[in-house]
Amino acid sequence: MSEPILKCNELHKRFLVGDGVDAVKDVRLTVAPGEFVLIMGPSGCGKTTLLNLLGGLDRPTRGEVILKHRKFSRLSENELARMRRTLVGFVFQFFNLLPDLTAAENVALPMRMIGLGHEEVARRTLELLDEVGMVDRASHSPYELSGGEQQRVAVARALANRPAVVLADEPTGNLDSQSGNRVMELFSRFNARHGQTFVVASHDRGFREYATKVVHMLDGAVVRMEDRTGAVTP
Ligand SMILES: Nc1ncnc2c1ncn2[C@@H]1O[C@H](COP(=O)(O)OP(=O)(O)OP(=O)(O)O)[C@@H](O)[C@H]1O
Ligand SMILES: [Mg+2]
Repeated sequence: MSEPILKCNELHKRFLVGDGVDAVKDVRLTVAPGEFVLIMGPSGCGKTTLLNLLGGLDRPTRGEVILKHRKFSRLSENELARMRRTLVGFVFQFFNLLPDLTAAENVALPMRMIGLGHEEVARRTLELLDEVGMVDRASHSPYELSGGEQQRVAVARALANRPAVVLADEPTGNLDSQSGNRVMELFSRFNARHGQTFVVASHDRGFREYATKVVHMLDGAVVRMEDRTGAVTP
């Protein structure tokens, strides 16, 4: 197997609320470049917490995340933030577009934040909006878009800086099945065409067809992993 792009070892997250909640328990995961990983499991099993740890949005209680040879525990908050801007794309359940910006401005924002030139930003924004089928809505505000359209803009934004890894937390959770499938097909297309690695949390069993690996979680722990052939790995 090729060198993993994303890896975690004995990753553990305990929230210190009440008696304490072990939201992620000793999770070990290895993701090869170009993989499409689906994380499944019931509400409260730790999917969001795990994605937040994998993307460096949150720090683990113990264990390590390694993304492209960078050990998160060795990075300062600033380095972690820079890493997120350049190597990771996030897609959320509630789209999280900035309401005061147009669709195009939302897509352009991550590129501006890393200091790309005006012309390149404009060109890439158009290209990305085209890839998600949203060019004709470029100047719309988020509230002038349907949920499915907002999510397609959010996908374009997540992919703007050509991140090595895209983390998506229930990206279709607020969409009808047709819009949901369209978002998953976009992921699948970027995955095939640009070799980007995807880690997607979803309740939808129908999405297993897209995945190279399915990770089943229960009570914070990974209880089963399947690959495309259905073989189960420990
Ligand atoms: N900030 C927090 N403080 C305390 N407990 C938390 C926090 N975030 C999550 N939890 C707890 O950790 C557990 C895992 O939550 P998490 O949001 O990761 O689950 P999930 O699998 O994403 O669920 P869902 O499918 O409903 O989104 C839950 O029991 C939750 O109550
Ligand atoms: Mg969640």
